Formats: sequence, C-alpha cells, structure tokens
Amino acid sequence: MIWLQDVSKGYGARTLFEGVHWDVKPNQRVGLVGPNGAGKTTLFSIVTGELAPDGGTVRVARDATVGYLPQEIATVSGRTVREEARRGLDRILALGRELEALEATLAQATHDGDHAAELDRYADLQARFDALGGFQLDARVEEVLTGLGFKRDQLDRDCGQLSGGWQMRVALGRLLLMQPDVLLLDEPTNHLDLESLVWLEGFLREYRGTLVMISHDRSFLNALCTHIAELSGQGLQVYTGNFEDYLEQVALRLAVLERQNKNLERRAAELQRFVDRFRYKASKAKQAQSRLKQLEKLDAQRTDTDAKQRTIHFELPEPPRSGRVLLQLENVHKRWGENPIYAGLDVQLTRGQKIALVGPNGAGKSTLLKLFAGATPFQEGHRTLGEQTRPYYFAQHQIESLDLRRTVFEEAMTAAAGQTPGFVRSILGAFLFSGEDVEKRVGVLSGGEKNRLALAKMLLTPANLLLLDEPTNHLDMASCNVLEAALGDYTGTVVLISHDRHFIDGVVDEVWEVAEGRVRPFLGSYDDYVRRRASGDLPEPFPLHRARVAPQPKAPTPVAASPLPPETQQSSAPSTRALDPATIDWSGGDADIKRRRSRDDKRGEAENRQRKAQATRAPRAVVDQAEREVERLESSLTELRGLQADPTHYQRPDEVRRVALEVAQAEAALPDAYARWEAAQAALEAIEAQFQ
Ligand SMILES: Nc1ncnc2c1ncn2[C@@H]1O[C@H](COP(=O)(O)OP(=O)(O)OP(=O)(O)O)[C@@H](O)[C@H]1O
Ligand SMILES: [Mg+2]
Repeated sequence: MIWLQDVSKGYGARTLFEGVHWDVKPNQRVGLVGPNGAGKTTLFSIVTGELAPDGGTVRVARDATVGYLPQEIATVSGRTVREEARRGLDRILALGRELEALEATLAQATHDGDHAAELDRYADLQARFDALGGFQLDARVEEVLTGLGFKRDQLDRDCGQLSGGWQMRVALGRLLLMQPDVLLLDEPTNHLDLESLVWLEGFLREYRGTLVMISHDRSFLNALCTHIAELSGQGLQVYTGNFEDYLEQVALRLAVLERQNKNLERRAAELQRFVDRFRYKASKAKQAQSRLKQLEKLDAQRTDTDAKQRTIHFELPEPPRSGRVLLQLENVHKRWGENPIYAGLDVQLTRGQKIALVGPNGAGKSTLLKLFAGATPFQEGHRTLGEQTRPYYFAQHQIESLDLRRTVFEEAMTAAAGQTPGFVRSILGAFLFSGEDVEKRVGVLSGGEKNRLALAKMLLTPANLLLLDEPTNHLDMASCNVLEAALGDYTGTVVLISHDRHFIDGVVDEVWEVAEGRVRPFLGSYDDYVRRRASGDLPEPFPLHRARVAPQPKAPTPVAASPLPPETQQSSAPSTRALDPATIDWSGGDADIKRRRSRDDKRGEAENRQRKAQATRAPRAVVDQAEREVERLESSLTELRGLQADPTHYQRPDEVRRVALEVAQAEAALPDAYARWEAAQAALEAIEAQFQ
C-alpha cells in the first residue's frame, strides 16, 4: 500500500533519518515506534505528501483512500460534533445522493425495458451503499462518537466549545467513520481515557484496511500490531509481531551483539599478540600484516550496542515544607452548564499522599483535579489551601499552554522563579535540550519535546502539591520511566490522572475512583484496585457534605479563602595452551648437521637444503594445516556474525539458536587453533634454525 525507497530527511545540519525503506502491505497493522524527536511525525507527513523528503521516493497505492490523524490539530468551530464527524462519510453520502438521483430517473422512466443498464447500476450502487453501512449512518455516527466518550447530549454542541483533546476525538471519529483503505494515526491514545482506549482498541481490531499508527503505549501496540517499525538514526527497521515480540527480538539481538563485541575484544588481543610476536620475523611478516589488517577490521565489526537512547534524567527537588493538610474542598458544588458533576463534595489532601484518580469517562476526574488546582470556578462551597501549600498544575493539554513563538529557553525562563539562566539551561539539558536546541522555536518541537519542556517548567517551579493530568502524553517509553521514578521518589503530595496503568502503578499508593459525583478511596496499587473492584469489594465513598441536608447558601468562592491553621510541622586472558615445541616429535631432526656442512660446502649446501626440506616437510604441513583451521574458523565467524547483525535474523528463533551455537563453538575453538598454529610455527622455526 505504501512504498518508501531510500528516503531521507533532516532539518538544517541535523539528519533525522536516511536510507529508509518501507513496504507496508495491505491489511498490515503496523506500530511505528521510536524515541521522541526521532522523526515519526515527520515520516507521516512525508507519506501524506505534506512534506517533501530530502531524498528518495514515496508511493502510495493508486486509488487508495488515506485517512490521517495528526498528532496535533487546528481548532474547528461552526459545526456540531455530529456534523463534523459525518464529514467522514462523504464517500458514502455521495453514493447516497447518486442513488437518489438514479431513483428519480427510474421513477420517471416508462416501463418499456430500456432501463436495464440503469437498473443494474442501481442494484450495484445499492449493494455498495449497504456494504458501507449506508442504511445505518446515523446509528454508526452515534456508536463511534459514544465509543470515543461523547455523551449523546454533547453531539449537537459546537466543536468550537470543546477542549483540544475532545476536538481530537471528533477528528478521530470522523476518520473511523470514513473507513479509508489506509489509516495513519499519530498517537491516537493521547486524547483518550482508559475506557475509550479500550473501545478504540476493539474498533481497530475489527477494522479491515491497512493501519499504521504511532504510539508510545505498549499495551495498545501489543493488542493490535502485526508489525513494529522502529525509526532511529540508523533508519527504519521492521519487525514481525506485536510489541512484546519486537522487544524480544531486540533484546536477543542486543545480547548477541554484546557477546559478539566481547569476543571481538578477546580476538583483538589474540591477534595483537600474534602480530607482536611475528611482526619482525621475515617468514611471518606477511601473515602478521594480514592479521594487523584483520585487527583494524575487527574494530569496524563492532556493533555499537551502547548507542542507548539518550534519555531525560532528573529528580524532583525536595518540596517546600507544608502543613499536614495541603488542601481541602468543603461542600463543593460543581456544574458544567446544566450538568451537575459534584454536589456537596468534601475531600482533603494530606502530606505525602500519592493518588491516582480513575473512573469512567466524563465522571469528573479532570474536573476534580481542576478544582484542586483552583483552575475552574464552582458554584458553591469552599476550597482552602494550606498556608504553605505550593500547588503545581499540569493540565491535560499542558503543551497547548506553551507559546509557540518563543524559543525553548525563553519559554523555560517564564517559569524560572529567581533561578539563573545557567541553572535554567542545566535543567533544559536534563530534558535533552542542549546546545542549539534551546534556541529552537517551540512551534517546531515534536509532541514529546513539547511535553519535556512543560515538565522542565514544572521542575523550575517549587511545589509541594503536584496535580498532574495525563503527564505522560506524547512521552516516549524511556522518558515515561524516568518520570515514573522521579514521582515515585518525590516526597511531596501527588494527584494524577493517567491512562497508562503501568505508570500509575509505579507512582501511587492510593486509587480514588470517581463516579457519579462520589469519590471512593482504594488503598493500594492500581492492580489492587482492579482486583477489589472485580470482586465487588468496594470501600465507602467519602461522605457527602452534611450541608446537603441543611443547605447553607454561600457565595461562589472560586479561590482560596480562609487558610488552614498553620501547623506545628510538621576477562579472562585468552586461554592459549602453549604447546612446548620440545615435546613434539618432529622426525627428521639431525644433530650432526654442522659437522657435515664443513666437509664439502657445495655438496653440503645442497644436501643441507635437501635435509632441511625433508626435516621441515612434516612440521610445515602441520603449520599449514593449523593455519587453514584458523582461517576456516575466522571466515565462518565473519559469516555468522554477518547473519547476527541482520535484524530480520531474530524473527526465526530456530535459526537464532543454531547460529548462536555455531558462533559459540567457533569462538571456543579459535584460541586453541591459534595456539596450535603458533606452537607449530615455533617448532618449525626451531628446526629451520638448525640448518642455518
Ligand atoms: N521546522 C523545523 N525546524 C527544525 N527542526 C524541526 C522542524 N520541524 C521538526 N523539527 C525537529 O525534528 C525532530 C523530529 O520531529 P517529529 O515531530 O517528526 O518527531 P516525532 O518522532 O514525531 O517525536 P514525538 O514522539 O515527540 O512526537 C524534532 O527534534 C523536531 O524538533
Ligand atoms: Mg510525533
């Protein structure tokens, strides 16, 4: 469906990728993976023709319809959610119009039988219309949109009122309805919560077409992919199987390459010894030379296994001191329009709590986090911040709050609270913005880079209460792990929302389930929560405020009013078995040589040559044989290592085992072969010396 030939792309002096070959076959479901900033989104833009490659060719199957969900989209307004989604049905709607027109023609026609062709065409159109689900269009639109988390009464709202994340869901819905032959999705799960994510997974599994999606979500990739394409500076490598299979193949390959590198080092030491020993021996100069060349080649054979992905590294600073209670919501009433979310909510956050908010879509997780953050007004009740509480709110679409026109450095400086530019640079460095990167415009950053910048800003703001709404969006897996570890070690209070279960489990020790305006606290990990939930073991929700029974009218209090009472605070060397030449019985040695030589020079010399030839024949044969054995082992190793360097090799486990075994055998045999060769050589030289 898609063919890329030798495609390359870079910006300025920086090459993103080169030599990319890719053949996406019909009905494959490919996950495109790679670290943030590797150029995945750029590669998609090249496939869609939005961006021209620097080199190479790109082809997409003729007549194939292509649907593309970009990583970030421009806002639409002036159309309702339903209308916008229906735009994906253009193809079917056009068919419908054609059908209607044909119907009208047929209705006006006389029954004289001249319309066989039209009737045939009508039947054909009708069948296609039906196959595309043309008769249940409205139901399909609703099914897809509700699957993506929309409530029925939201479908007729203007898109312009939606947040960025919900706009992305509309765009995704439109694409899913369109049913293109090729679907390109750039991080579709970023904008979803767990429930819609599971729905999308199911939808895509049923999808009949070619699917290529960029994602950092390993369970999503596992559930769906038939292939994984990995983009890196070395190019694009396609692996068969899902994400786990890919990881296995990569790990296997890495282990083999590492072992190979170790062996190459050992081998280099052997060769070096050989060269040192024979370099000045005229008879062996040639071989020493050739070994010296081999030695140089060995270096080139080393595969860089340390080219580990550069990854962010940071620790969260010690939080400023706080009271025991950091924040309290009291009798909070919150409605979005007519839609009541909370009626009389009472909760408090205390020092050191690490909480994940979970719950069905639209239940009010983000709203609760916003209430904690003071980022949304509410109709009734109190929000009270402890006097020493320093909250930091990372909104769900935090990266949208970055100013695209600023440079990375300028943007970071806006968060600096008295820190020096040097310090800000060092923080940016920890988030992989080094050198010229800090002068990049925020607008050209990749999704993950923007998220890293937002996280760097968080680090510059001293806080003891972190309120994080999907902080891992756009982040590659390595960065997620670093963030997870940093939050795990953090001694302040954390409340987070994430659709990444793995991440949740690494950070929190409480899971608060938000549903129907109530909050149920489960102590333990996310796994514990799932287990208890499944067995129906539900803790009591936080009680609703008594004020519900006897309402006390209150003026809206959008910001902190009364502070809480301040608290009293709270090699082994290569195993050369040196064979002693003296112990080898080389027949033909002669003790009287010198005496005889002096008798008749001429005859003696000829005789001498002959004797020497005779005396050395057998040992020379031994040397030759030993040498051939070394060469045989060496060339077979070169060949086997060539196999091991090929990533596709790891798709055939039997082959991998066979080759690994042969490599191990050859490697084990080589030092002995060398030792035998050296010993034979030494013995030969000893005999030759007797004839000088
Ligand atoms: N116009 C531009 N000028 C300079 N650099 C650019 C420009 N556009 C993109 N880049 C850089 O190219 C790199 C690749 O960007 P791209 O968006 O393709 O990455 P990605 O693999 O999709 O990353 P992510 O996983 O974060 O989405 C990034 O480092 C980005 O900053
Ligand atoms: Mg991207």
